[in-house]
Amino acid sequence: MVHVSIMGTGSYVPERILTNHHLREMVDTSDKWIVERTGIRERRIAGEEETNVTMAVIALERAIENSGIRREEIEFLVVGTNTTEPVWPSASGYIANLLGLRKDLPFLDVQAGCTGFNYALSVAEMSIKSGQYRTVAVIGTDKLSAITDYQDRNTCVLFGDGAGALILRQSTSEGIIRSHLGGNAKARNLLILSKKDGAGNGYIWMEGRKVYTFAKRVMVESCFRVLDPSGAAGKNELRALFEQVTKIVPHQANARIIMAAAEELESRLELPEGEAKNKMIMTIEQYGNNSCASIPLALDISLRTGKLRKGDLVILVGFGAGLTYAANLVRL
Ligand code: ACO
Repeated sequence: MVHVSIMGTGSYVPERILTNHHLREMVDTSDKWIVERTGIRERRIAGEEETNVTMAVIALERAIENSGIRREEIEFLVVGTNTTEPVWPSASGYIANLLGLRKDLPFLDVQAGCTGFNYALSVAEMSIKSGQYRTVAVIGTDKLSAITDYQDRNTCVLFGDGAGALILRQSTSEGIIRSHLGGNAKARNLLILSKKDGAGNGYIWMEGRKVYTFAKRVMVESCFRVLDPSGAAGKNELRALFEQVTKIVPHQANARIIMAAAEELESRLELPEGEAKNKMIMTIEQYGNNSCASIPLALDISLRTGKLRKGDLVILVGFGAGLTYAANLVRL
């Protein structure tokens, strides 16, 4: 059996910090409202010259360094992103070019809203498990500030920019155990890029409440499905599987969504209060929702700060535009 190990991680966030206090000067909002409703205090905003591509290049350079591999060893590059400008050719090809990866490298962008990283990781996992490649790089990167309307208080308080990367390699010990991918294409209009305005800008528009309800439900569903792919496990069996999970790295969209999903897990599995909540890794307070970057960024930060360690069993779970959702079960 071919296994897939994470060799190393890397991430990047821009220097500029946009706090709730800055936002209060831009729209009718308050630090109190934003903290209570979202858990966010500040987010990073890319500079004029920075893009999803330039941020990804730095994140991948750091992941390569942390892995101890040479960049020429990378055989395939998969990038989850939604904010490539112009939309083609792909961000992944541009990243490969800037980093000087091997000349004949195949590369692929995966566009699945904020779930892009989980989907990309699954594509990379399969490409190694099938025997096609040995060493694969996966990135999640987004510059949401480029498609955020800073006059719309419903959305502008939520989003930020960043990138995260992983190096995967074929191995003899367990790593990316399996992935579960989900979707609900009928609900695509709940979260869209609006028609372009007179200046040619399109912005994120969403039905926040409906996305919130969807997110809470599918995060729980995806956690269950990745632990129990056949759906055959009874409650006690599922609880035993969940108890083996050290931590969950959820998409950092809203602290309340994450906590609501944790409560739902506790109620469905009849767990003591706090058992699922305490497993949730949170970086949202400092970085907000940076779409495809949120999970690999949280993973990299947690590994560097010792919140996660080698050997931990972790679920990475996300949701986003499409609508899409997914989870990856990983032994670090
Ligand atoms: N400051 C002050 N008041 C605000 C703000 C703000 N920044 N934003 C909205 N409000 C107001 C609303 O106008 C509304 O006022 P009204 O009652 O007078 O109409 C009131 O607050 C309550 O609004 P709700 O939308 O009901 O607030 P809710 O508690 O649902 O929180 C939020 C809104 C934070 C957007 C929440 O619905 C949410 O997080 N939804 C999910 C968003 C998300 O994560 N999207 C994900 C993916 S993004 C991607 O894929 C790129």
